[in-house]
Amino acid sequence: MKQFDWETFYTFTKDSPPWPLLVRAVSLLTHKGRALDLGAGAGRDTLYLLQQGFRVTSVDSDPHAVAILSSFPQENLQVVEASFEDFAFETYDLINAQFALPFLSQRRFREVFERVTRAIRPGGIFVGQFFGIHDQWNTPEHDMTFLTRGQAEAVLQDMDIIEFNEVDMDGHVADGSPKHWHTFHIIARRP
Ligand SMILES: C[S@@+](CC[C@H](N)C(=O)[O-])C[C@H]1O[C@@H](n2cnc3c(N)ncnc32)[C@H](O)[C@@H]1O
Repeated sequence: MKQFDWETFYTFTKDSPPWPLLVRAVSLLTHKGRALDLGAGAGRDTLYLLQQGFRVTSVDSDPHAVAILSSFPQENLQVVEASFEDFAFETYDLINAQFALPFLSQRRFREVFERVTRAIRPGGIFVGQFFGIHDQWNTPEHDMTFLTRGQAEAVLQDMDIIEFNEVDMDGHVADGSPKHWHTFHIIARRP
């Protein structure tokens, strides 16, 4: 079942600047080698990572995202059309997953995040979000993952936490529609 119309999301975000959380995460790395952009969408963060000198692998299961990402004329970019569940992880200095991993089902979330963790080089960084249980999308028709604060901390137990900011407030989605967000914004380092 397709739960979201990502194509509309891409039209609203394709010229957006990189997420500030990612910009902060990148500033913590001295070695800008390989980066993985999970759920890269219309590529706002992929472009930033390339500009910062990373060799970037961008993964998305949506063919429209893959078409946009593949149009970037960049020799340091590899675009992969795959689900997070099926993607063959290698190793990276940075894994970026902005508003992406919560779209995994509860059934697969922890297993996939373990693979994410193992794919980060020692000293490397994970940056991204988990969704909390008060999020407006936490309803039976959404096969996604929503965590309590304690569960989110437990998922990150093997990482050194650099930022862990909980946001539980009314806001908007990309097209301007209102939405209640409950989000954990995370920067964590693999020891
Ligand atoms: C909310 S968008 C975020 C896009 C981008 N990170 C950004 O912040 O603009 C989520 C993206 O994750 C992708 N996605 C969701 N679930 C996925 C899965 N299980 N495997 C691969 N991609 C997935 C969607 O196709 C979509 O492009």
